[in-house]
Amino acid sequence: MTHHRILRRPLLGAALLLPLPAFAQQRTETPRQTRGPFYPVAFPADTDADLVRVQGAAAQAMGTVAHLRGRVTDTAGNAVAGALVEIWQCDAQGIYRHPRAPDTDRFDTNFQGYGRTITDATGGYAFRTLRPAPYPGRTPHIHVQVTRPGGAVLVTQFYVAGEPLNAHDGLLNAIRDPRARDAVIIPFIPADRIEPRALLAQADIVLG
Ligand SMILES: [Fe+2]
Repeated sequence: MTHHRILRRPLLGAALLLPLPAFAQQRTETPRQTRGPFYPVAFPADTDADLVRVQGAAAQAMGTVAHLRGRVTDTAGNAVAGALVEIWQCDAQGIYRHPRAPDTDRFDTNFQGYGRTITDATGGYAFRTLRPAPYPGRTPHIHVQVTRPGGAVLVTQFYVAGEPLNAHDGLLNAIRDPRARDAVIIPFIPADRIEPRALLAQADIVLG
């Protein structure tokens, strides 16, 4: 009997040290959006995280450079390391690199149109891309797909804060919860100290 008691006491003590989940700060989960019709059917030869410069191209893409950066976490704020982050978007003229996209023969071949990276130990990711341009029927947006090491996928879109077309965009406004909607509307701010005339967009991604 004495032996039994000795084993028990430390277990009870450990139970009292467990965190109380009710008090944890929950982060707003990044809302899901449609993948849309223009995810690449064939990846470009260059798929790195710098979409503005295509390997072997003489010039860089038309448009305003934007550094898109953030962290991928779960709703408790824990880093999701080793996640695949993919982005794709139209060029500065509003044209996608995709066989079914309107005017794709005029796509800016100096723009990669698609890029991918893997999150680091802190969940961090970074792309050099363009401030997205509008095209008929859509406010400017960047398509985003995040694949966890275990295989779970989140597809969403990032929008530009202050863009007047946001008010009339059907897909953006289909996100009914204002907090969730705000989570994908990203300020694009001048960031000349990173690169002259470039913008910085900081967008954290919260996985459920
Ligand atoms: Fe799109």
